[in-house]
Amino acid sequence: MSDAIEYELKGDIAILRANNPPVNALGHAVRSGLIAGLERAESEAKAALIVGGGRTFFAGADIKEFGKPFKEPGLPSVCTRIERCSLPVISAIHGTALGGGLEVALGTHYRIAVSSAKVGLPEVLLGLLPGAGGTQRLPRLIAVERAIEIITTGRQVGAAEALELGIIDEIGEGDIEEIGVAYAQRILAEGKGPRPVGNMPRPTPVDFDAIHQAALTKGRGQIAQATAVRAVEHACNNDIDAGIKLERDMFMALLKSPQSQGMIHAFFNERAVSKLPELKGVEPRDVKAIGVIGGGTMGAGITVAALLAGLDVTMVERDSSAAQAGADRVSGFLQGSVKRGKLTADKYDAIMANGFRASDSYDALSNADLVIEAAFEEMGVKKTIFAKLDRVCKKGAVLASNTSYLDVNEIAASTSRPADVLGLHFFSPAHVMKLLEIVVAADTAPDVVATGFALGKIMRKIAVRSGVCDGFIGNRILKTYRTCADHMVLDGASPFEIDTAMTAFGFAMGPFEVADLAGLDIGWATRKRLAPTRDARERVATYADKMCEAGHFGQKTGQGYYIYEKGKRGGTPDANVTALIEAERRELGITPRAFSQDEIQRRYMCAMVNEAAKVVDEGFARRPLDVDMVLLFGYGFPRHWGGPLKWADLQGLDGILVDIQSYAKEDDFFWQPAQLLERLVAAGKTFDDLNKGDTV
Ligand code: 3HC
Repeated sequence: MSDAIEYELKGDIAILRANNPPVNALGHAVRSGLIAGLERAESEAKAALIVGGGRTFFAGADIKEFGKPFKEPGLPSVCTRIERCSLPVISAIHGTALGGGLEVALGTHYRIAVSSAKVGLPEVLLGLLPGAGGTQRLPRLIAVERAIEIITTGRQVGAAEALELGIIDEIGEGDIEEIGVAYAQRILAEGKGPRPVGNMPRPTPVDFDAIHQAALTKGRGQIAQATAVRAVEHACNNDIDAGIKLERDMFMALLKSPQSQGMIHAFFNERAVSKLPELKGVEPRDVKAIGVIGGGTMGAGITVAALLAGLDVTMVERDSSAAQAGADRVSGFLQGSVKRGKLTADKYDAIMANGFRASDSYDALSNADLVIEAAFEEMGVKKTIFAKLDRVCKKGAVLASNTSYLDVNEIAASTSRPADVLGLHFFSPAHVMKLLEIVVAADTAPDVVATGFALGKIMRKIAVRSGVCDGFIGNRILKTYRTCADHMVLDGASPFEIDTAMTAFGFAMGPFEVADLAGLDIGWATRKRLAPTRDARERVATYADKMCEAGHFGQKTGQGYYIYEKGKRGGTPDANVTALIEAERRELGITPRAFSQDEIQRRYMCAMVNEAAKVVDEGFARRPLDVDMVLLFGYGFPRHWGGPLKWADLQGLDGILVDIQSYAKEDDFFWQPAQLLERLVAAGKTFDDLNKGDTV
């Protein structure tokens, strides 16, 4: 018997207890342990109980085994073996029964769970579909529409809802194993035998074509959800064995798809990104009370994220009316959380009464463990603020700037304690967006970096280390691919075609829609700032300056690349923008040409990958995965591609380099191939090889 499944005979009941920490993933040893346990149980027990040891039931198939040579017994045959057991088999669920974990439970004949347990089939979130009978058994057990919804969203279903739907039979309280044993004894006492879900009637067909089409549309290029719909359809037309075989073929096809490789890359690296080897053993400083300088959208968003994470926050503004306005903004955001049911009214009252205060005096920050400055983006302003913080903050307090472009070394140098200074770059709205760039300056102390990551964890952010460069990891890369988009506009594409192409690629929004949302005045100010030092070879589109001169700053003024009508979602393309672009082309003597959607996507992505490779090579991002997570969690990059550098690996780096070299023939200033890309291609390696510690 494998150690991964402990076997114990308790009276008439054989207990098969999973012992594969941390989440009892169904790796090979667990699967063979289950088969061996059932065989032994059949020879000496009257019922079998499957239960998870430690913190959870099975969290699913072992994702680390995916892509490696497959070892029997496979999970589908384990579930079928459980279902065909001659004894009644019961599962007792605590923690999470996800993916293969729920499929094991669906293979058993009876299911009991504690009220805190959650069940679900999250395979689509890995670009897969349930591949061990989930698409065949769940719609036999519960209404087919409900099964489709659970499978295509991948959401976790709480025990109470699972009971109502019929996924589980009972809810019990107390020690999970004791509950399971008592339930098994009751089943035996009542003379109940095996009750295979696979023998239940096939589900009644629904309009699968319409549901499939809706899943495709909603998936924005993702195929797993729509494929899963077809798998459920097979349950209506096949007996259990044939259905499971069809499901398995679809699962294996998805497993080989680039999309699942991208999503599995995202799954592991969103966890790996905050684990820095150099921080092993470094204790973060204690952070309970924080200060926030600035009560604008960013400062208020950071404040709300911190309050919701249970931190005490003092907000400081320049005068009492600005402090009041900041406090009102915070209260408005929190009330929004109450309305959406994310925060109880009592908790809101408690936060506003005890956890939060706004002030116009820096002295209010004398006890803060950490202060985040989120003031106007101008070096002089930042330096004045940091000099004040240096005077009032206690020894050992961490001083952070939320700057998105400015030099954190220069900010640190304006204090007498540069070792305590770092950048904490949140993304707007800060209480919603997951990304946090931890910007490490030249003198930042290791325990201050560790404190930044600890804060990220408390605030449930994806924290990524960045070095100090213009725009750090994300905005530096954004600037490059945005410039590429501007060049395509000058050469003949419209902003609207580019937005359409990039949303078809899978981005939530195109670059021009994003610009309208962020405000066009920011880019305008940057263009003006950089103009005096700009290289003469750089191509810069200036039609957007004319939009700004006319007071069109995007959504906030009702007009930008798009026109926005009050009360309507989204905007409609502004024909005046097209006229401005045409005028600029005429001025520059450019004859516009057509761009296909493929070409737009390819150029845009090549620009992103090329700059990302430079950011890694120059050491501002330590690993390709750091860039991938920044783009996924801060810039709406489609998760099913895993990030730009995973996308590049999946496309083939040699082809990308060839394309960049060919674009360089038109503009060798903008398209300078990244040396790292050239070295990887020469060595026949991928960005992911670098994630695993390889060098080139
Ligand atoms: N396989 C392998 N490793 C897994 C895993 C899995 N299914 N699930 C979690 N892990 C690992 C994580 O990578 C992490 O490793 P690390 O400590 O080295 O970073 C560790 O377990 C702990 O995970 P979390 O940090 O995520 O712990 P949480 O307590 O926050 O969350 C969880 C636990 C809810 C179970 C979450 O890990 C999760 O959602 N896991 C994935 C569940 C899933 O997708 N299951 C379906 C798998 S596919 C499948 O079953 C196919 C089948 O149909 C054939």
